[in-house]
Parts: sequence; structure tokens; C-alpha cells
Amino acid sequence: MKSKHIIALDQGTTSSRAVLFNEHGEIQGIAQQEFRQIFPHSGWVEHDPHEILSTQLGTLTKVINEHKIHPSEIAALGITNQRETALVWDRKTGEPVYNAIVWQDKRTASICEDLKAKGLENHVRKNTGLVIDSYFSATKIKWILDNVPQAKEKALRGELAFGTVDTWLIYNMTGRKVHVTDYTNASRTMLFNIQSLEWDHELLKVLDIPQSMLPEVKPSSYHFGDYLTEDHLIPITGVAGDQQAALFGQACFEPGMAKNTYGTGCFMLMNTGDKTQLSKNGLITTIAWGLEDKVEYALEGSVFIAGAAVQWLRDSLHIIDHSKDSEYFATKALGSNEVYVVPAFAGLGAPYWDMYARGAIFGLTRDTGKEHIIKATLESLAYQTKDILNAMQEDAGLKLTRLKVDGGASANNILMQFQADILGTDVERPEVIESTAMGAAYLAAIQIGLWKKEDIVKNRKIQKCFKSEMSDEVRSKLYNGWQKAVKRTMNWID
Ligand code: G3P
Repeated sequence: MKSKHIIALDQGTTSSRAVLFNEHGEIQGIAQQEFRQIFPHSGWVEHDPHEILSTQLGTLTKVINEHKIHPSEIAALGITNQRETALVWDRKTGEPVYNAIVWQDKRTASICEDLKAKGLENHVRKNTGLVIDSYFSATKIKWILDNVPQAKEKALRGELAFGTVDTWLIYNMTGRKVHVTDYTNASRTMLFNIQSLEWDHELLKVLDIPQSMLPEVKPSSYHFGDYLTEDHLIPITGVAGDQQAALFGQACFEPGMAKNTYGTGCFMLMNTGDKTQLSKNGLITTIAWGLEDKVEYALEGSVFIAGAAVQWLRDSLHIIDHSKDSEYFATKALGSNEVYVVPAFAGLGAPYWDMYARGAIFGLTRDTGKEHIIKATLESLAYQTKDILNAMQEDAGLKLTRLKVDGGASANNILMQFQADILGTDVERPEVIESTAMGAAYLAAIQIGLWKKEDIVKNRKIQKCFKSEMSDEVRSKLYNGWQKAVKRTMNWID
């Protein structure tokens, strides 16, 4: 009998990855490729849709070739993706009418202000679970329709299609036949009613977006279509936004269970079961997944810049050669230097929601060296996580005793120890920190009956648990400094 593999395609903000799993759910190989970040103006962030597709399919081919696997040995594909990023293309030619506008892009702040001025905050909150912010797809679609020549007319004639990255990939992988998304991705558009599970007509009308542009919305474990390779069809049977996929991969199946993923940004999600819970503390409500037509929800704290701040040290400041060197330099920053880096490069997300905040460094003294800035940048990931954990605990009315972590920067021991210290909460790192890919692979495998949800729990092993070693006094002194620094970055641009 042929061995059964599952491949998770993880289309992230800065790279595309293909992760190969064997039939026992173990990772056999990973291929990864970074792609261009396009910054046409200050605060704008775009991706080339063709690069998204070519790097993603390139990594798929690479991992298959490297492990000498025939397409017939791949039982299913799961897709997980950077969320909110908006693409619009021509249905006839399949050509995008504009670059993908990335979730970090701030160009639509004024459209958001208009929506607020129209009194739509409550409507958005109640129906979509979100706050009005340029982070989500809705205002990006409107910007494309209003600014790309002839886009509006074409859209009204039904000639354009919108999709988040999952939709764009599926559309192309199925020979432009299938225009579809899943509940988790739809819930990030600011156009989807998370209670009735339908597109929200009022928001579509206010934003002047024709419903004909929107994809069909399906559960996260579902037969979305088939990827046409040269001589073989591979079913695509799992789709989820990357943060929801990580929640699934970390087996956060019970209400109250939470995970924090350190990627480009940092995203903490807590399962709230089959009921939506609206935050009183700056978090958003989102769909965790849809399985067999049953939808579950999560509270989410979204931090826009986390790993991207370490990339900034590498690519813009050039003070480290590789992201992992940050750990070494942080150990060199001894003493009680209290430098704070607030990486509000793309405004601030939860719990502040300030589209006009910008990044800053505070507390510089004559003896501040690059190692202090590197250490403070790493620490900013932990402080931002504390901001959202505090909000989450307030909303849930409980104290989290343990935080499950994953994603690239969770491998950094200095950071994880500081995270436990500054939270005063245990930080639990699993053996496999590829929870996002794992979640997508499981969603795909569940649909074809290869694995069960319970297998995730069985297979998940803890690699290390970091315990707080910091006194309450030091913790609150450091955190006060952070809060002071964040306040000063807010409302920075007019
Ligand atoms: O909401 C944005 C998020 O999905 C991006 O994830 O992994 O690219 O930081 P990541």
C-alpha cells in the first residue's frame, strides 16, 4: 500500500512554506521561500500576487522532490495563510487588477474614519466581532475599487473576484474553477456576519462592494477542490487562517484554552466554545473553525509587529546578520538598562487599536549599545503579549496559569524566559512549534478520515515549560516603563 502523506501549505506574510507530514502526523520535511515586501509609500505594504502563488507552489514542488514523493502519495493538502490581505482579480483573465494589499497596510485609515463617523462601530462589533480598522480586508477592497481605473465598473458587471490569500491559491490551483474560502478567513474581512454565517449586506452597501465579488464560504475541513498536477489530482481538504490553524494545532479545543503564536506579528487566541463573546478590553471576536457545520469561536488579541521587529534589526538597522543572533546579543546586554523599543511600525493593534501610532525607542543613555536595542526589541514581543493576556484574562474573568506558545520566535529561550517572567505565568513550548502547519494538516486529514481531532491531543508533547523567576516588584516596575513608552507612541501621526 502506498504511504499517505499530508502537505500543509503555509502562506505567511514574509515567506511561503510547504510542510510534509507522514501518516503518523510527524513532520518529514519543510521547504521555505521568502518573497518581496513592497512598500510603495510610507505605511503601505503590498505583495505581488504572482509571487505569492509561485513561491507557494515552488515550495510544494521542492518538498515533494526532496523527499522523492509521487503526487499519488499525497492524500490531501491543507492551506493556511496570512489573513485579511486582500486580492482582487479579473474573472476572465485571472489577472489581479492590483497588488495584494497586506494586512499591515495603513492606507485606508481615512475610510475607517468615515465608517466610524457614520456610526457603524456597533454594527461592525456586533455582526463581525471586529473593530473598525484598516487591518481587515473590507476597506482594502474598497480602496482597490475606488482607485484602480475601471475596477468599479467591472466589479458592478460581475467581472471581478475578491479573495483572501487562501481563495487566491485555491482559485489558481484548481485551474481557476473554484472561488471559495473558509469561515475563519471570511471572519477577518469585516464583511462577514459571524452569527448568521452570511455576508453582511449593510456593510457591503455602505462600502459599495458588490456581493458578486465574494467567494462562497465553507467549513475549515471540507473538500474545497483539487490541485491539478501534471498527471494527478490532489484534494484540498483543509483551510484556515494561520492563527486559527495554530489554535487547532495546539489542541485548544476547550473553552478557556489559549495559545500565542510568534510570527511576523503575534497573535493570542482563546477558545470560547460555540458562543461568541464580545470583548470589553480591546480584543476581537473571531471564528476559530467550522467543523461539520458547527462553528466555534475565539477571542483574539492581534499584535501587528513581533518577528517583523527582529527582521527590522536585520534588514533595516543591519545590527544582526541572522534573526537567531538576537538571542546571543540579548545575553550580552547585562545590567539594569531599561531601554524600550515600541515597534508600532504599522500602528498598534490590540488592545490599543491606534492606526496613527508609530514606533519609537525610549530610555537611551550614553552607554546604550546595539545589544540593548536588540534585547529591548525582543522584550517588546513579550510586553505586547502581556498587554493582550491582561485583556484576555479580564474578558474571560479568569487567570491563565499556562500559556501555550508556538511559531518561529518561540524557539528563543531568552525570550521565552522573559515572557514567563513578565507574565508571571508558565509558558509551555511544545516539541513541534509548527502548530500552524500542523493545524492545517489535521483539518485536511480529518476531512479524508485519515486522522481524528483527538490524535492532536495524543501526539502533542511538551518540550519545555518556562517558569517565572522574577519578583512581583521588578515585574511591575518593568511593565510600568513599557506602558509609559507605549502611551508616548500613540496618535503620533495626524
Ligand atoms: O492577521 C495576520 C496574520 O494572519 C499574519 O500571520 O504568521 O504572517 O505573522 P503571520
